Amino acid sequence: MKTALITGITGQDGSYLAEHLLKKGYRVVGVVRRSSTTPYERIAHLVDRVELVSADLLDQTSLTDVVQAAEPDEIYNLAAQSFVQTSWTQPVLTGEFTALGVTRMLEAMRKAAPKSRFYQASSSEQFGKVVETPQRESTPFYPRSPYGVAKVYGHWITVNYRESFDLFAVSGILFNHESPRRGLEFVTRKITDAVARIKLGKAHEVRLGNIDARRDWGFAGDYVDAMWRMLQQDAPDDFVISTGKTYSVREFLDAAFSVVDLDYRNYVVHDEKFFRPAEVDLLVGDPSKAKNKLGWEPRVALPELVRMMVEADLERHSKPR
Ligand code: NAP
Ligand code: GDD
Repeated sequence: MKTALITGITGQDGSYLAEHLLKKGYRVVGVVRRSSTTPYERIAHLVDRVELVSADLLDQTSLTDVVQAAEPDEIYNLAAQSFVQTSWTQPVLTGEFTALGVTRMLEAMRKAAPKSRFYQASSSEQFGKVVETPQRESTPFYPRSPYGVAKVYGHWITVNYRESFDLFAVSGILFNHESPRRGLEFVTRKITDAVARIKLGKAHEVRLGNIDARRDWGFAGDYVDAMWRMLQQDAPDDFVISTGKTYSVREFLDAAFSVVDLDYRNYVVHDEKFFRPAEVDLLVGDPSKAKNKLGWEPRVALPELVRMMVEADLERHSKPR
C-alpha cells in the first residue's frame, strides 16, 4: 500500500484528490492547520478513512515532523492562500504561504523523505498578462498579482530543488478548475450560488467585477487525476493541465442562469469592489503534452460543469435549515 501526504486536504482539490487516492488503495495522510473550529466540510465523508495530522505552512518543524512520521511515497503540496483578490490585501501572508511554504515543504521532504515524489500546485495565473496564446509549458511567465508572483516562486523553487538535489519534484500548471466544492468567493461558485438563491427567491441580484475576463475552466475531479499521473512518470517533468477552451465570465453567467431559465442581464450588478488592480484578461491552455505523455484528457465540458454546480447549489439551498 502506497502512502500519500496531502497538504490542503480540506480545500477543493484536496478533497477530490483524497477520494481519488483512496479509490486507488492509498493510505492518505492529510495536513490540517490548527483552527478554533474544524473546517472539514469538504472531507466530512472521508474523515474516517484518512489520517489527519496537524502542521502549518508557516512552521518548518511541524512540516518536517509530519513528513517524517508519515513516510510518504508521494507528497501533494496543495495548501496555499489561493484567492487572487486577497493577495493584494494580504501580500506578505500570500508570499509566506504560497511562495515560501513551498520551500518549507521541499526542505521537509529533502530532510525527512528524499526518495518521496513531490507535486507542486502551480497555476495558470503565472502566465498573467499572457505573452502567447494558447499558453503551454514553454510560455514565459508574466504574473499580474501577488498570488501569481508567489506561485512563480513556488514553481521555480520546485524546479530548482529537482535540479539541485535530484529530487522527484514536479509542477502541474493547472488552469482554473471548479466544482460544487469550489470556495464561494471564486467567480464560478459565486455565480452558481447566486443563481440558486435567485431562483428560490432568496436573493435578487449578484454583484460582480470584470465579466469580460476569459478563463479556461475545467472540472476539479478530472484535474486531480492529472496530478496523480504526473507522479507515476519515469522521470519528473512539468505539465500544463487545461481544457484548451476559453469562455468569458459573461458566457459562464449566461450558461448558469439558463439552467434555471432566467436571463442573467436582469440580475447582474457591476460593482467596482470586485475589479482587480491588475487583471488577467485571457487564459487558455494547450494540454497536448499532458495528453501525449500522461494519457490525460478532461472529461467534463463547461456546460456539464455549470449544470452540475447550479444543481448542487439548488439542492443545498432547498434543504430546510
Ligand atoms: P482552496 O480550496 O483554497 O484550499 C486551500 C487549502 O490550503 C485549504 O485546505 C487550506 O486550509 C490550506 N491552507 C491554507 N493556508 C495554509 C497554511 N498556512 N497551512 C496549512 N494549510 C493551509 O484551494 P484549491 O482550489 O483546492 O487549490 C489547491 C491548490 O491549487 C492551491 O495551491 C491553489 O493555489 C492551486 N491552484 C488552484 C487552481 C484552481 O483553479 N482551483 C488552479 C491552479 C492552482 P483551510 O481549510 O484550513 O483554510
Ligand atoms: N472572484 C471573483 N469575484 N472574480 C470575479 C468577480 C467577482 O465578483 N467578477 C469578475 N471576476 C473575474 C476576476 O476578475 C477574474 O478575471 C475571473 O473572474 C476569475 O476570478 P476567480 O474565480 O477569483 O479566479 P482566478 O482566475 O482569479 O484564480 C483562480 O484560478 C487560478 C488559476 O488560473 C484561483 O483558483 C487561483 O487559486 C488559481 O491559481
